[in-house]
Amino acid sequence: FEDPSFSQAVIRWQKQHGRHTLPWQNTTDAYRIWLSEIMLQQTQVSAVIPYYLRFLERFPDVAALAAAPSEEVMAHWSGLGYYSRARNLHRCAQRVMAEFGGIFPSDPELLADLPGIGRSTAAAIAAFAYGARAAILDGNVKRVFARVFGIEGFPGAKPVEDKMWLRAVALLPENDIESYTQGLMDLGATLCTRSSPSCNRCPLSERCVASETGRTHLLPERRPK
Ligand code: ADE
Repeated sequence: FEDPSFSQAVIRWQKQHGRHTLPWQNTTDAYRIWLSEIMLQQTQVSAVIPYYLRFLERFPDVAALAAAPSEEVMAHWSGLGYYSRARNLHRCAQRVMAEFGGIFPSDPELLADLPGIGRSTAAAIAAFAYGARAAILDGNVKRVFARVFGIEGFPGAKPVEDKMWLRAVALLPENDIESYTQGLMDLGATLCTRSSPSCNRCPLSERCVASETGRTHLLPERRPK
């Protein structure tokens, strides 16, 4: 693996300054972690929290969700948007019951085969629920990588994304995968923001190509017109 000081900086920062009390943290219940990651795919933390808590009250485990009528699942999602997430969520719960006896698999490849779970979400679930050493790469992490490593090109373009996945895998720490994964998410969400990054508080700024060259506003590159 390349440059363990990168992951160590992220882990140290997460332990000192990251978020530790979100409702889906401090659990290894794969059902809760999966539900939170699906809700967080296109929705901000503050908007997700009340939905997440209401959803869990009505559907406390994967069996309850799988057995519920779709109308009721949709009603509990109503207001969160991107409703294909709710349909996939329900289907996913039914497949976990039918194919895995109600236990979410720990292998990211098996997780990524389930409805609504892409490669990054699969890795987040595997890391948080099972401590699996799997790499995430969501929009926030792409922004961090584009800046720290000075990766040019639109991160939604396949060759750029492929390059980032290789980095993401190579940078994984041997230990503390949960803190590392949450740390990358929290850095992207709280410091390395799109329009006003707080480089002065960032543990990576001294090794960040964009920060060191005054190009944070130019990276990541926008979608080409
Ligand atoms: N966004 C996606 N996953 C998240 C998580 N586990 N915590 C906070 N924000 C997130």
